[in-house]
Amino acid sequence: DGFPAEKLFNQGYSYTYDDVIFLPHYIDFPADSVNLSTKLTRNISLSLPCVSSPMDTVTESSMAIAMASIGAISILHSNNSPSDQLALLRSAKSRRIPFISDFEVKSPSDSIDSESDFGSSRIILVTESGNRRSRVLGYVLKSDWANLKNKDCRVCDFMSKLDFSVPSSHNLDQIVGFLSGKGYELVPTVSESDGEVIDLVTIEDVERIRGFPKMGLPSVGPKGEFIVGASIGTRESDKERLEYLVKGGADVVVLDSSQGNSIYQLDMIKYIKRRYPELDVVGGNVVTMNQAQNLIRAGVDGLRVGMGSGSICTTQEVCAVGRGQATAVYKVASIASESGVPVIADGGISNSGHIVKALVLGASTVMMGSFLAGSTEAPGVYEYRDGRQVKKYRGMGSLEAMTKGSDARYLGDTAKLKIAQGVEGVVADKGSVLKFLPYTMQAVKQGFQDLGASSLQSAHDLLRSGTLRLEVRSGAAQVEGGVHGLLSYEKKPF
Ligand code: XMP
Repeated sequence: DGFPAEKLFNQGYSYTYDDVIFLPHYIDFPADSVNLSTKLTRNISLSLPCVSSPMDTVTESSMAIAMASIGAISILHSNNSPSDQLALLRSAKSRRIPFISDFEVKSPSDSIDSESDFGSSRIILVTESGNRRSRVLGYVLKSDWANLKNKDCRVCDFMSKLDFSVPSSHNLDQIVGFLSGKGYELVPTVSESDGEVIDLVTIEDVERIRGFPKMGLPSVGPKGEFIVGASIGTRESDKERLEYLVKGGADVVVLDSSQGNSIYQLDMIKYIKRRYPELDVVGGNVVTMNQAQNLIRAGVDGLRVGMGSGSICTTQEVCAVGRGQATAVYKVASIASESGVPVIADGGISNSGHIVKALVLGASTVMMGSFLAGSTEAPGVYEYRDGRQVKKYRGMGSLEAMTKGSDARYLGDTAKLKIAQGVEGVVADKGSVLKFLPYTMQAVKQGFQDLGASSLQSAHDLLRSGTLRLEVRSGAAQVEGGVHGLLSYEKKPF
């Protein structure tokens, strides 16, 4: 029944995830025992095979800590100055809890003139000099301030005293222990190196986080800090950016290019391997075995696969170059596996089935943009469009993003005329990644179970041995495979 992958992907067609379907195999284990642990690169292990894309509407510090806290990883975007990217990295590395609290700071002699002084928080922190680097003295709750009869007074006249804190190296369990042990409602976390207040953690924050489904081990480095990656380009100036990132403790760098098989990238890989031999480098993007082989020879520790498959991409239409993502992942993974180089399937993921397909076809991780862009952890604020809550999501090759500097990714920075290879749009609110990714990964485990694969390695072995079989879906089969025949229905993510 069906075709082995080797035969299916060697017929001259470019298949994307929706074109192909696996035939079920034999189940002899429960879905919960499927092990999705994997490798991002030669030296970085993860308990979840998910990566957030280095895009300025997807990955900044909040995404980085949330993803790492559930065992996945993020790659910070580089559509900013090297010092801004370093600040994002430091912010993520300074935290051990999966959120960033947003609060204003005042000094005791300040006054609070209006509700807007609280910003988006319900608490104002009070420190000696009114900034995060001075001694914590107290806090003001918005409700307490609202109840004041006479608001024409100084903060010190009505603040609640706060003469305790915990080190920012405390993880969530330690903070919970502290708060419940003392019966406190909130606690500031303070950096041991410079005394800066990092977060203001409340009981409600802790309960919200603990209410999310439990995942595998978080992605943490030897010092207990979250593992975080960052993207760079291949220009001479990116060497300076790289130096910043190495100082900031980046665990891996991703060379961000839509066509990675270039002299610029090969030179950059060799430079990094010579200068920072301990640092893992992901090369790409590639979609052919030949491109992959060149980057593997130059010394990459991971390969990012995909050209034009992203939801916001127009590369295939604009440049007539690219490949269907299922074929690209299968082809690149088959050559990369011979050298032990893990493959990141980048772009085109819009449901858990796509993740199953990417991983079984040979990828070790999936990189996602649109799938994560509507989350609370993605940068930007929610807007309302047609009664729906949405967040902005744009391609890094869109005119808007390139105006900010990302044109180097498309090797267009020296060109006189800018050609867009991506679009700007919005995606629907999905809530926290801490909630929806665990559900997504449970669905992925069920897909693996149907295939009789209890781990990524066993899926790859079953595929390569020809035991797992696939078929191409006709247009009608694809329609049949989706919801059909109903007058209307509500699509719930879980
Ligand atoms: P998804 O489908 O997850 O894709 O939204 C994210 C990936 O798309 C790539 N990317 C682009 N490709 N033009 C392109 O051709 C663009 O403007 C663009 N921006 C991002 C990138 O690989 C990302 O991870």
